[in-house]
Amino acid sequence: MCGIVAYMGYRQVVPILMEGLHKLEYRGYDSAGCAFLSEDRQLKVFKARGKVANLERLLAEQNVCSTLGMAHTRWATHGGPSELNAHPHLSQSGHIALVHNGIIENYATLRSQLEKRGYTFRSETDTEVLVQLIEYVMSVRKDDLATSVRMALKLCIGAYAIAAIDDRHPQQLVAARKASPLAIGIGENNEEFFLASDASPIAGYTKKIVYLEDEEVAVLERGKKVRIENLHTGVVDYEVKEVDLDLSMLDKGGFPHFMLKEIFDQPAVLRDCMRGRLLEKDGRHRVVLSAVEQYREQLANAKRFTIVSCGTSWHAGLIGKQLIEHFCRIHTEVAYASEFRYSDTVIEPGEVVVAISQSGETADTLAAVEMAKAKGAFIFGIVNSVGSSIARQTDTGTYIHIGPEIGVASTKAFTGQITVLTLLALALGKTRGTVDEEEYEEVLAELDRIPDKIKKVLQQNDKIKALAQIFTYARNFLYLGRGWNYPVALEGALKLKEISYIHAEGYPAAEMKHGPIALVDQEMPVVFIATHHQLYQKIISNMQEVISRKGRIFAVVTEGDEQVKNLAVEVIEVPATLACLAPLLTVVPLQLLSYHVAVAKRLNVDQPRNLAKSVTVE
Ligand code: G6P
Repeated sequence: MCGIVAYMGYRQVVPILMEGLHKLEYRGYDSAGCAFLSEDRQLKVFKARGKVANLERLLAEQNVCSTLGMAHTRWATHGGPSELNAHPHLSQSGHIALVHNGIIENYATLRSQLEKRGYTFRSETDTEVLVQLIEYVMSVRKDDLATSVRMALKLCIGAYAIAAIDDRHPQQLVAARKASPLAIGIGENNEEFFLASDASPIAGYTKKIVYLEDEEVAVLERGKKVRIENLHTGVVDYEVKEVDLDLSMLDKGGFPHFMLKEIFDQPAVLRDCMRGRLLEKDGRHRVVLSAVEQYREQLANAKRFTIVSCGTSWHAGLIGKQLIEHFCRIHTEVAYASEFRYSDTVIEPGEVVVAISQSGETADTLAAVEMAKAKGAFIFGIVNSVGSSIARQTDTGTYIHIGPEIGVASTKAFTGQITVLTLLALALGKTRGTVDEEEYEEVLAELDRIPDKIKKVLQQNDKIKALAQIFTYARNFLYLGRGWNYPVALEGALKLKEISYIHAEGYPAAEMKHGPIALVDQEMPVVFIATHHQLYQKIISNMQEVISRKGRIFAVVTEGDEQVKNLAVEVIEVPATLACLAPLLTVVPLQLLSYHVAVAKRLNVDQPRNLAKSVTVE
């Protein structure tokens, strides 16, 4: 939600900021803006509605010459997506500029207090309240920018990542964070600094990165060591990390969209995910997860597992539950992080809470982790973004290592999460002695073959593309699956909703008769996921129920299937695999289907309306 990038140093700032904003555009794209300090110390602000490209066009007409500036791409929370509400916001005097990601919850109270003191507001945003508050504090206490930011933030309730500049303090760039991410890149000899919501805009310039912690304020001054102060305790020591990002993952690699590239990336990145974890010697496989080795006691003796996550990661959690219960025989629950964090649920010491998050920054998941931690649970993270807030809050965990995911609709992260959950369940099952030796070998050997089998599914891209053309008319879709494929039905429906704006529901196939069947008619496509596994015959009966209501069936089936072929309008085949690994294959055609439907409808696949990749507000 909202992307921030800022620079202070010796290079021209515009290309750095624009390149950075493009990399962060996945975080929000309803408006963008930037502020620069010109050579004659004038603060200049430019804003544009819509995508970063609009701002870029606007800047091309200007002649900006500056080595200090900051920029923002917005996902609206307070106030609609207008130019007026776009960031940066200026203080009343026009001296201070601020960009902000997050929500100041008590902004209405602060605003009315400031109004009483003569402040007027141009926008509807909470951010403008914060910048006015900083100015007010500065006018009363006569402190510098950094101290004023610190004092103002003490009065704020909520979440923030901010960057601020003041044309009266042209040597300072001030940043702060609470519950929204912010990384600082440090150049050679502290001669330049970068700030960004994630490391991707920084990685091309420096590997030295500091991740700000909650309630920390950083002061960046050319030629000086970064100073970081906690809001309450004062100056803190911090760690400078060496971050090595694979920058090739940040471009589309010849594909028209990130989403398509990321779908096609899956065979390779799942290999990366398993590397060094799934080992083979003399034809026998084994899993080694350092987190399980190191925390054997806490994990293997857990009274219960609870998986907390949101969106696609929640769907992966539903598969995780089946994996952990099947291989480890440990009772496992799956909760929406947003519900869990405010629930009165019973969590006790001796329990394990697994947080699944691609970004590692989802506000609800982070809060769920904090709540579970406070209740004494042991926290295990399954995260993609290295060094992210959730990764840092957990007791241990396993990164999925699938490279940055840019497309807003999550694809490779889902299969990466399932792969890690499979490895975790097998490693733990082995430790607990609850997994059968033969099955252990069988599943691992098959997991090793999954990337090649995904390649075979991807070969059907053209067929799925053709199929997608006939779906563009549909206004409603039903996705049905059972057992291991039930979460895949939910995920297929979510993918379609997210990027094609067609209403879609995912359901357990047999549950359909308790409601959704009322919607079925010849207009409604019904997608069945019906691979050759234990509930295959049952799902055939569910198909008959749909056909009797004139529903049109499209199905994902196991290669060579004849029965479903006779019932469905069209089938997509996936190679045969074990039931517990089926989701890794069956989800792929559904990802492609939603992608091609959205493209056929000429929609913006990578940046669908109203959504954002990293949801750092609750
Ligand atoms: C947003 C994204 C989804 C994602 C969800 C959870 O809604 O658009 O793709 O599944 O957040 O994100 P996380 O980073 O925690 O997995």
